[in-house]
Amino acid sequence: MTIQQKTAQADQPRVLIFDTTLRDGEQSPGATMTHDEKLEIAGLLDEMGVDIIEAGFPIASEGDFAAVSEISKRSVNSTICGLSRANFKDIDRCWEAVRHARSPRIHTFIGTSPLHRAIPNLTMDEMAGRIHDTVTHARNLCDNVQWSAMDATRTEHDYLCRVVEIAIKAGATTINIPDTVGYTAPRESAQLIRMLLERVPGADTVVFSTHCHNDLGMATANSLAAVEAGARQIECTINGLGERAGNAALEEVVMALKVRNDIMPYRTGIDTTKIMHLSRRVSTVSGFPVQFNKAIVGKNAFLHESGIHQDGVLKNVETFEIMRPEHIGLHAKNIAMGKHSGRAALRSKLDELGFELADNQLNDLFVRFKALADRKKEVHDDDILALLQDSAANTDSDYLQLKSLRVVCGTGPSSAEMTMIVGGKEQSVNTTGDGPVDAAFNAVNALFPHEATLQLYQVHAVTEGTDAQATVSVRVEEQGRIATGQSADTDTVVASVRAYIGALNRLRVRREKTAPDADVKGVSYTTSP
Ligand code: KIV
Ligand code: ZN
Repeated sequence: MTIQQKTAQADQPRVLIFDTTLRDGEQSPGATMTHDEKLEIAGLLDEMGVDIIEAGFPIASEGDFAAVSEISKRSVNSTICGLSRANFKDIDRCWEAVRHARSPRIHTFIGTSPLHRAIPNLTMDEMAGRIHDTVTHARNLCDNVQWSAMDATRTEHDYLCRVVEIAIKAGATTINIPDTVGYTAPRESAQLIRMLLERVPGADTVVFSTHCHNDLGMATANSLAAVEAGARQIECTINGLGERAGNAALEEVVMALKVRNDIMPYRTGIDTTKIMHLSRRVSTVSGFPVQFNKAIVGKNAFLHESGIHQDGVLKNVETFEIMRPEHIGLHAKNIAMGKHSGRAALRSKLDELGFELADNQLNDLFVRFKALADRKKEVHDDDILALLQDSAANTDSDYLQLKSLRVVCGTGPSSAEMTMIVGGKEQSVNTTGDGPVDAAFNAVNALFPHEATLQLYQVHAVTEGTDAQATVSVRVEEQGRIATGQSADTDTVVASVRAYIGALNRLRVRREKTAPDADVKGVSYTTSP
């Protein structure tokens, strides 16, 4: 970038980036994160320059409350926001959690469309009154209040203008216009923001925000269209994680504004070189793999397979690349390591991949790296990332841990001999099954009986060759609760069992979070302010 370009950017309107990976993202079925994982992701988002972090839904569970409180205490630069429904109890609980932040925000919402008004059975006037009372209450607690009209894109325009005006008069400082079901399209998304800015008195005194879901694959386009019409906050998640088809992906909106700054002259405060690392960490801790051809962060996003493309890129990289991998923190050296590589080489490789490990973590990883290098001639970047992912997903503090496994398989029935630590106690069993994975899973079920059913079992080879590591993803379901697990190993059966155990460990966390009075998915509108 030239000095003139930099100066021009400094004069451009600033778009705030509001990340909701830890709230809307975590609402993805199966994307449960542990307390420590949430703290780590929040720290990385803060470091990356995210303006507002929506850290959770404090009334939803003790776990959410604890995470939002702790993230608030640790926040450095970002504003920390918590979600609350339109009632005093939610708002008070939210304030209790976010008030520790250097810069706290209360976010309160209500569904304003005809379909959503029908659920709490409120008339238009009653809902308008509820909005006035709850926003006033929130503003009495906190100077920074965001109000959202859930399902705004399916709300009558006159009514939307009326309730937005009420929220502004009651003290909201940010007005969010969610496309809750991913129904809008770019032109309409822009028209809606423009209409509100033109018609609502006081609209120029607040920040308008866009919050787009991706049900029709238009979340990024709709968010950018809203910005062109005057929205100055984009709500998004890392890897586009979120309910159903997800939310607008942070990496997509931010990189689109950077790469096409010539036609979308807006700036963000994001350090884009941190994107790849965050994408990997969110994928690991949420248990949601990133699809290979995902824009910006997919494994194939910077690969050139066809001869014509490879030739072009070698002659002039701009022939087939509109951005450089380094801009998102992807370093393409990919020099293989092997059994002679030492600890310093591993540390430098981790550094290159964007990971900074404490000494004890590096030691653990080094032991696993050496074991892998003994079994595999060359250890590539993807192998190291798989090892890291596995170490993060399966730890020594887990309730269930695999101690040892021996499997006999062949043309006859398979059998498994397994020792597992269950809640601190070592237990062993012998089982049979239809193939080695089935026998091993039966062993887990015998040692830890449960009601969950296996919904997904997927195996991928990390690299080429028969000595490649396998990454296994497993999804389990129990009474509507979903949890996922991942693991990597050169032995597919070991990886499978560790992934299965990981999913069961996460299911236990999910059970605590979704105890009957803590279910955020069954949002109740009936509580009065
Ligand atoms: O999609 C949505 O409407 C939401 C609101 C709670 C802001 O996530
Ligand atoms: Zn949403």
